[in-house]
Amino acid sequence: MAQVRESLHGMWSSRLAFVLAATGSAVGLGNIWRFPYMASDNGGGAFVLVYLLCIAALGLPVMMCEILLGRRGRRSPINTMRELARESGATRAWQIVGWSGLFAGLLILSFYSVIAGWTLSYALTYLEAAMTPSFNLGEPGQMFQELVGSFPALTFWHTIFMLMTLLVVALGVEKGLERAVRFLMPALFVILLLLVGYGMSTGYFSKAVSFLFAADFSRIDASVVIAAMGQAFFSLSLGMGSIMAYGAYLPEDASVGGTGLMVAFADTFVAVVAGLAVFPIVFANGLNPEGGGPGFIFTILPHAFAAMDFGYIYAVAFFTLLAVAAWTSSISLMEPTVAYLVESTPLTRRGAAWLIGGVAWLLGLGTALSFNHWSGFTIAGLNFQAAVEYLSSNILLPAGGMFIAIFAGWILPKVVSREETSALTDGQYRIWLTLVRYVAPVLIFVVLLSSTGLLSM
Ligand code: PHE
Repeated sequence: MAQVRESLHGMWSSRLAFVLAATGSAVGLGNIWRFPYMASDNGGGAFVLVYLLCIAALGLPVMMCEILLGRRGRRSPINTMRELARESGATRAWQIVGWSGLFAGLLILSFYSVIAGWTLSYALTYLEAAMTPSFNLGEPGQMFQELVGSFPALTFWHTIFMLMTLLVVALGVEKGLERAVRFLMPALFVILLLLVGYGMSTGYFSKAVSFLFAADFSRIDASVVIAAMGQAFFSLSLGMGSIMAYGAYLPEDASVGGTGLMVAFADTFVAVVAGLAVFPIVFANGLNPEGGGPGFIFTILPHAFAAMDFGYIYAVAFFTLLAVAAWTSSISLMEPTVAYLVESTPLTRRGAAWLIGGVAWLLGLGTALSFNHWSGFTIAGLNFQAAVEYLSSNILLPAGGMFIAIFAGWILPKVVSREETSALTDGQYRIWLTLVRYVAPVLIFVVLLSSTGLLSM
């Protein structure tokens, strides 16, 4: 039995390094860009409630599956799944989970890079505004339209961001990533807290709190549940192999449950704080919290930056740090595929990073076009960007998570999963096993089925 106990791609220097990298993967545009607009599009409290339940009942257990499978297999997700299936006497077809993750990762990376490009563009625009007293930013909606209306501008920033991502992946993930996460993520968090402080001063904070936390149960329908479940997987970076790939570099002595819990907690906390930062500004400016769409924070936050003392300086810091948070996430979107190519093809790490970056870049042009030349072109009522986002986040990630849970719960021998979770008490292990054997597969299956309309909720 060929057990590889060291990953060929290097190892994290410590358990903390893994927690930081996995948190860097989880915390990104998903928390600060996507969470507020998903909440705004899906009725606020109802969405948030289902989202939090999904994190606890599905997200955390599946995260533990990914960490333990990755660490056991010590390879890229495709090869880890294939190898663990072989060792468990199951069919090699399980590697399809890895392939679906590869596909989902490419789709997500393609639009992720375009949106991250917006944050770069905003950072630069605010820098100019902060330095030129006569600079006119224009009204927030118009500022946003000017950016997304320009295909060349979107492509320019998308290209810069994709280059930033592939260059780090080409170097290998341990170098640089650890440092970025250790210092820059706390800084981003401080700026978010400043925005929450500003929100409190507007007099609309309690309205924001009730919008986010007072669930109107009549709003919960299949589409809200699918959106919330997709958001839980997207935000925790689950279902496509990012955490599995990072788990492959995790030292043997780290606890799967403890590290997973830390990452899930940090990620959820940042999303909730981002919501508390954004919604007071919505209400204070008499804006509509429904149907925000992907431009939501880009048209909401400028109201606060215009009203705050030193607002432009905060804006530069905010958008720069958000770009960094997006960067540490996009690196983790690319890593599983690059690791696979390095293991299974003659490509070098650098060559693989350029190849995957190139493919995702090309696909991303579709997203860039969907805000201007292609804005009239829709698939099932969604424009190109929204369709790619829906397919990858709401369908492929939960489906990937479902198969990962089934594999860890039913296929992997219990002695192996118990050995890998040795820090859990017997009771905790049983709860985890119940969640991954029954709760996660059944719930995800029912929700996915209802999204096809075959089952009405
Ligand atoms: N979790 C990241 C975010 O919230 C996005 C991501 C999804 C990263 C899937 C890796 C895998 O921004």
